[in-house]
Amino acid sequence: MAKDRKDKIVIRNLSKKYISDTKSLLFSKNVDGDKIFENNPDGYVLKDVNLTIKEGEFHVFLGASGCGKTTLLNILAGFLDKTEGEALLDGKDIKKPSPERGVVFQNADTAIFQWLNVWKNVEYGLRVQHVNKKERTEIVRNAIDLVGLTGHEKKYPNELSGGMKQRVQIARSIASNPKIMIMDEPFGALDAQTRKTLQDALIRIWKETGKTILFVTHDLQEAVYLGERISIFSSAPNAGIATTEKVPFGYPRELDSPDVAEYTRKVHIKLDEAINIHNKKENETEHAVTLSA
Ligand SMILES: Nc1ncnc2c1ncn2[C@@H]1O[C@H](COP(=O)(O)OP(=O)(O)OP(=O)(O)O)[C@@H](O)[C@H]1O
Ligand SMILES: [Mg+2]
Repeated sequence: MAKDRKDKIVIRNLSKKYISDTKSLLFSKNVDGDKIFENNPDGYVLKDVNLTIKEGEFHVFLGASGCGKTTLLNILAGFLDKTEGEALLDGKDIKKPSPERGVVFQNADTAIFQWLNVWKNVEYGLRVQHVNKKERTEIVRNAIDLVGLTGHEKKYPNELSGGMKQRVQIARSIASNPKIMIMDEPFGALDAQTRKTLQDALIRIWKETGKTILFVTHDLQEAVYLGERISIFSSAPNAGIATTEKVPFGYPRELDSPDVAEYTRKVHIKLDEAINIHNKKENETEHAVTLSA
């Protein structure tokens, strides 16, 4: 049997449910209006996810809100346990976080340290890794420059806009130089111009460093602009990866070019189909409930 390549991520029959005692949830009114447990007696958010991500790949996850993208990334980051199946990195089970897997969270407010200024936030991981001061200074300066925060080094998070806070988080991750960058809708809160700048910076970093990037978005155009491959989620409950598409273009990509626009249209259809898998499941369940009533 061929040995798994180093840093290859293998996800096999992975399922996740948040609470094992689903019965109590089913009868609880206090579930935050969450529909996930309706028609879903097993309580699975993700069900039977299968995927292999190659070392150095730029892999985009695309899916509707609430389908389980963050859940999957948190499992790959080591923050959450899976319920069933496997999530392997280099053949080893992912069980806990590791500095080789840097995470950029969806919400910068809770991710960056409120009591540290921009420079110190970005420097944090390097201090933990005992990188010497000279090297640290150079790395931090470069990372801050890359995300366009030069001149703001002394500001604290409460003095920054939402987009600036997100850039601090990205710079912190880049500075720590992880082998795998796990990014959960990192550009969702940015204006179009900053978003484009950071997308291009990320492509450049990826090309220069050969990092593996796992990138979640619900923005179709962003997925097509960035991804080497795009995995499209079906909707929760029991969400899985409906299809994985290889994007047939090199970089940089022109979203307005006829080829790319036509391809984006095709991916849009696949995304609609993936969401419809869920609607079909729901209709079938409703039908079954009607029959049994
Ligand atoms: N700690 C938790 N306990 C129970 N249910 C949860 C928990 N965290 C998430 N969920 C549920 O799991 C489902 C998937 O959530 P998740 O955050 O992974 O979705 P997402 O695809 O990242 O959505 P978005 O695009 O809005 O960020 C949602 O229905 C959510 O309510
Ligand atoms: Mg999310």
